[in-house]
Amino acid sequence: MTDALDPAAMREQYRTMELHPADLAPDPIAQFARWFKETAANPAIHEPNAMVVSTATPDGRPSSRTVLLKHYDEAGFVFFTNYGSRKGTELAANPHVALLFPWHPLARQVIVTGRAARTGREETAAYFRTRPHGSQLGAWASDQSRVIGSRAELLARYADLAARYPDGQEVPVPPEWGGFRVVPDTVEFWQGHENRLHDRLRYARAEDGSWSVERLCP
Ligand SMILES: Cc1cc2nc3c(=O)[nH]c(=O)nc-3n(C[C@H](O)[C@H](O)[C@H](O)COP(=O)(O)O)c2cc1C
Repeated sequence: MTDALDPAAMREQYRTMELHPADLAPDPIAQFARWFKETAANPAIHEPNAMVVSTATPDGRPSSRTVLLKHYDEAGFVFFTNYGSRKGTELAANPHVALLFPWHPLARQVIVTGRAARTGREETAAYFRTRPHGSQLGAWASDQSRVIGSRAELLARYADLAARYPDGQEVPVPPEWGGFRVVPDTVEFWQGHENRLHDRLRYARAEDGSWSVERLCP
């Protein structure tokens, strides 16, 4: 850890750092990269890549949960999950999605809106292979979001899989498991300040793919 600053002092520093459009990177991914780096360097933030993913049914009933961001670049923000889960089925019927990074100790949040699309099987497999053996088995063992009678049942499923694929043996990618890439339409950078006079700068993507920045009232 290169930054040994007291996180409380750091928060004060960020709280007084105003955010101006002229200081922002030209595109929201580059700006996200700046903030993500600062967040990751702050020991007060436990899992900087944890984000809240909100989805909705086609008739507008929302649901939210935390997932881990596993990759981001100009193409979007990627997380991995079970396609048969609640979020997976909601996204299959309605690709509109919101992501929220709650970086409270920095008095910051980033909010992304956009559309989610499944990653290719190759990309999914490449990531699956980097997961620890136990997590690979866990992905098979869990019919995510479905009702199960007991924890014992889940452990029994896991034990069966562990016997079938002992440590060191390659575990195939579960067909129901994979990535979603969220292609952003808007990305808001929110910086808290005293007296609720927060900065909110929102990038919006135009038809031609260029980005503009608007300031929103806090
Ligand atoms: C810190 C944290 C990280 C998580 N990361 C993931 C993840 O990367 N993928 C995932 O499918 N679930 C993850 N979960 C579990 C989800 O929050 C959720 O319980 C699960 O995906 C089922 O959600 P659903 O029924 O709404 O589809 C995580 C939970 C927490 C608290």
